[in-house]
Amino acid sequence: MSKINEVFIAPSILAADFANLQRDIEMVNASNADWFHIDVMDGMFVPNISFGMPVIQAIKKHAQKPLDVHLMIEKPERYISAFAQLGADVLTVHAEASIHLHRTIQAIKVEGMMAGVALNPHTSISQIEDVLDDVDLILLMSVNPGFGGQKFIERTYDKLNNLVELLSLSKNTPRIEIDGGVNAENAKKLVELGADVLVAGNFVFSSQTPKETIEDLKRSVNHG
Ligand code: DX5
Ligand code: ZN
Repeated sequence: MSKINEVFIAPSILAADFANLQRDIEMVNASNADWFHIDVMDGMFVPNISFGMPVIQAIKKHAQKPLDVHLMIEKPERYISAFAQLGADVLTVHAEASIHLHRTIQAIKVEGMMAGVALNPHTSISQIEDVLDDVDLILLMSVNPGFGGQKFIERTYDKLNNLVELLSLSKNTPRIEIDGGVNAENAKKLVELGADVLVAGNFVFSSQTPKETIEDLKRSVNHG
C-alpha cells in the first residue's frame, strides 16, 4: 500500500523518567516526533495504574506538540470533557470499555478532539465495523495493554492487513496507530502495511540517544 499521510511518531511518556519529566518532554519537543502519547490506566480495565489528571496537566504545560491520550479505563465516557479541558488533542477509548461506543465517539468530536478507538490484541476488527465512518483514528494494540516494554505480537501484521482491507470499503480514512513493542525491526513493515502512527515507549526512552532514536525511526519510515 502506498502511503498518503506522513507517518507520525508518538513517543510514549509512560517510559519517560518521571523524576525528570520536564527534561524528557523537552527532548521530545526538540525532536521530530509528532505527538506525545499519554497512557492513562485505571487498575480496572488493565491491571496497572499509570498517572492521572495532575500529571497530564504538568505535561501539557511543557509539551509543544499535540497530546495523543490513550485511555485504558472502564467507561471512558465519564471523562471526555475532563480530558478536553486538560488539552488532549486526540482521545482514544477502548472498544471493549465503552458500551455505547458510537455515542462516546460523537461526544469526543463535539469536544473538538480527534476520536480514536483502540482494540486489544484479542478483539476482532469486526467489532468496529459500524463505527468505521465515524472515527478519526484506530489504534491496534500490539501487546496486551497495561505495561510498557512488552514483546510485539506478530499477529498484528495480519490484523493490520485485514483492517486496511475493511477500510477500503469505507470513504473514511482514519489514521492507523500501532501501540506496543514497536522498534526499528518492525516499524517499516507496519508502515508498508498501512500504519501511519507509531507509538514507541521503551525503544525511545531506554535508548542512550532518545532524540536520535526518534529521528532515525521517523526517517526510516518516511523516506524508504
Ligand atoms: C501499553 C501502552 C503503550 C506503551 C508502549 O499499555 O498503551 O503505549 O507505553 O510502550 P512500549 O513501546 O515500550 O511497548
Ligand atoms: Zn498506549
